[in-house]
Amino acid sequence: YRIAVFASGTGSNFQALLDASRAGRLGAQIALLVCDKPQAKAVERAKAAGVPVFAFTPKEYDSREAYERIILSELERAKIDLIVLAGYMRLITSVLVEPYEGRMINIHPSLLPAFPGKDAPLQAIEHGVRVSGVTVHFVDGGMDTGPIIAQRAVEVMQEDTAIELQARIQDMERLLYPEVVSWFAAGRVKLEGRRVILF
Ligand code: GRF
Repeated sequence: YRIAVFASGTGSNFQALLDASRAGRLGAQIALLVCDKPQAKAVERAKAAGVPVFAFTPKEYDSREAYERIILSELERAKIDLIVLAGYMRLITSVLVEPYEGRMINIHPSLLPAFPGKDAPLQAIEHGVRVSGVTVHFVDGGMDTGPIIAQRAVEVMQEDTAIELQARIQDMERLLYPEVVSWFAAGRVKLEGRRVILF
């Protein structure tokens, strides 16, 4: 089972997936990193781990669709079964959504549908919720709108800053994401319409 991880920045979720893969806990091979920032830390992590990288600079292309067509051919060449978005800070168009329907997932630092988009931990603090968390969901072309696969709650403490809450949420992400990928590798997740079936 071959996965591609898409990341834009630090890549701590990518690292958690690499570590899980090496430890034999993923049941999947990380066959490609796709990154829209050639200088990102995630690219360094891939190189250190011997994972092939496709890095590109979006402004060198006429449109989102134009670079996604190149990405699609890289994914097909690498025979990718599942796309795992891990801090990839760009919306995905139908060029990738359609061929990978039911085979592309994202992780988001809130309990969706609360607090989609940027700075979800800050949104949670500002709203004053007592519980937030992590969501893994299918990607459908909207902003954090696809069918939900798994969620884990994280308590918001009285004194939390957005940074502190984000750090605890990210600890939870690093546990949950490899686990969910292992479910896919074991054939335990299916999408039927907008219904997610786990078995
Ligand atoms: C994570 O919090 C993820 O939920 C969000 O972007 C962040 C990426 O962090 N989509 P990292 O690059 O994996 O460290």
